[in-house]
Amino acid sequence: MGSLNFALVGCGRIGERHAEHISKNGCLKAVCDTDSSKADQLAQQYSSTAYTSIDELLKDSEIDVVSICTPNGLHTEHSILAFRAGFHVLCEKPMAIKVVDCGRMINEAEKANKRLFIVKQNRFNPPVAALKKAIDEGKLGKILSAQVNCFWNRNFDYYNNSDWKGTRELDGGTLFTQFSHFIDLIYWMLGDVKKVYAATGNFAHLDTIEFEDTGAVILEFFSGAIGSFSYTVNSYNKNMEGSITVFGEKGTVKVGGQYLNELEYQNIEGFEITNLPKGNSANDYGHYQGSMSNHGEVYENVVDVLTNKGVIATNGFEGLKTVEIIDKIYTYARAQKVTHNGVEYSLT
Ligand SMILES: NC(=O)c1ccc[n+]([C@@H]2O[C@H](COP(=O)([O-])OP(=O)(O)OC[C@H]3O[C@@H](n4cnc5c(N)ncnc54)[C@H](O)[C@@H]3O)[C@@H](O)[C@H]2O)c1
Repeated sequence: MGSLNFALVGCGRIGERHAEHISKNGCLKAVCDTDSSKADQLAQQYSSTAYTSIDELLKDSEIDVVSICTPNGLHTEHSILAFRAGFHVLCEKPMAIKVVDCGRMINEAEKANKRLFIVKQNRFNPPVAALKKAIDEGKLGKILSAQVNCFWNRNFDYYNNSDWKGTRELDGGTLFTQFSHFIDLIYWMLGDVKKVYAATGNFAHLDTIEFEDTGAVILEFFSGAIGSFSYTVNSYNKNMEGSITVFGEKGTVKVGGQYLNELEYQNIEGFEITNLPKGNSANDYGHYQGSMSNHGEVYENVVDVLTNKGVIATNGFEGLKTVEIIDKIYTYARAQKVTHNGVEYSLT
């Protein structure tokens, strides 16, 4: 197979980053956005064809892979349309906002005999990849527990400048848009989650978003390990921390920084993580920084799988697991009554 042809659906902030990496790893044949000015602008930049409807774009038979960069709540519909048109799909995180929809996407990929890739680029952060490798090689011994802290800032303007972020229907929750990468990483490193206990609340965004801005979660893993996960978008004025600490029988490692970019602590029996390559910077959204910008590695993996014998970096099953763990957390938390400013309410 020669160079792969890609189509991009959703020409927003992350769509622009996809376009940049598609052009380095293949050919961006077509782009689509319901906002014609965004589609036109990207099409002009990359000499591709602009569409305002995914149905029209999918009539282009020269496409190999469709990259889905639309709001969370549209990933399922757009992925399924692409499979039915006979194309492979690279879908942005979160795979979907309902577990049942993840299952539908996996089934449609099977029916079409096409591949489904989920974007989880934080797996490629150098300290994260080194920690995963050390765990897999048994350097930390049996994993006993983990602690995850996600202390970011997202203010009124961040949500107000978007027509979908903060909405139940298209965003789904803070764990989906801001912190699903972190859920993916603890699943990747510690395995599947058996049980959760959680409390969530909306403390500073009552007029801005339709769900929680903060959560405190306890996780029990099938392996017997336990974990805690604290998250908020109320860190004063700016992002403070995004970190994972893993405690094993033979070692403790903390990967932190603002966006899992630094190896902050390591103490491992007879072993040391050394020579970490310098990572990429974070996705920069002006006042906000997001996750580490490793979409280049994501596209290299797509090409490797479709043209060589590569293994999908994050497959649909793993994408589903993140959504399932988030669903467990929200189901537990929303069944609890939360008291805030003397008012008892439930998030359901
Ligand atoms: N991997 C990461 O680190 C990362 C970072 C940012 C965003 N994301 C994910 O990428 C997706 C997009 O996020 P964003 O920040 O770029 O949002 P955005 O609002 O900037 O872009 C979304 C685009 O989709 C377009 N769109 C909406 N409905 C459409 C439709 N029916 N057909 C075609 N286009 C349509 C919008 O007009 C908009 O241009 C989300 O799922 C988000 O969670 C992932």
